Amino acid sequence: MNPEETRAREAMTAHGRALFDRGLAHGTAGNISIRLDDGYLVTPTNSCLGRLDPADIAKLDMAGAPVSGKPASKEAFLHLMSYRRRPQDKAVVHLHSTHAVAVACMDHPSTEDVLPPLTAYYVMRVGKLPLAPYFPPGDERLARAVAEMDADARAVLLANHGPIVSGPSLDGAVYAIEELEETAKLFLMLRSETVRPLTKAQVAALNETFNRTK
Ligand code: 13P
Repeated sequence: MNPEETRAREAMTAHGRALFDRGLAHGTAGNISIRLDDGYLVTPTNSCLGRLDPADIAKLDMAGAPVSGKPASKEAFLHLMSYRRRPQDKAVVHLHSTHAVAVACMDHPSTEDVLPPLTAYYVMRVGKLPLAPYFPPGDERLARAVAEMDADARAVLLANHGPIVSGPSLDGAVYAIEELEETAKLFLMLRSETVRPLTKAQVAALNETFNRTK
């Protein structure tokens, strides 16, 4: 196994444990993948993100066929479609984190972007959050619906299910999904307050200054 793949397996295990230890993943919910030159690595189905073994992580080719490891996550196809939608990205994280799932269960007047730009870091790390229609976990219609979403959105919220976020690295995807979860929490905390989100001009200035990777 080449050193890049070994590092990727170790990074998935370390991030999985950190997400689990901080309550962002529970039970066997959530899955992580990293794209390699010759395919992609994805966490095994029914595995606990807090107790991954690097050797068990599934490897698939870029057509989605198994290469090695335990049987892949039932959402492997969703990860594959995320890489097709955003070829510039190298890692994908899907969670059932509580506050983001709460937002995924709300009735939204528009599905184009379901969280307001409350803070600068949300704009910088996430930017936009379209809502994908509900399909059961592992259903190929869910993956196809995500594949058709705006390629500018690095994060998509799956209705009544949870967020899926991709990034140019696993660190980047994890930081973005953590920012999304915290923003969902703020959004819920502020529901009875008069909120002043960032203005369009403030959002545009952040995008220009920090050159968010599209
Ligand atoms: P897997 O255990 O197959 O990865 O599924 C977990 C999950 O989060 C489904 O959405």
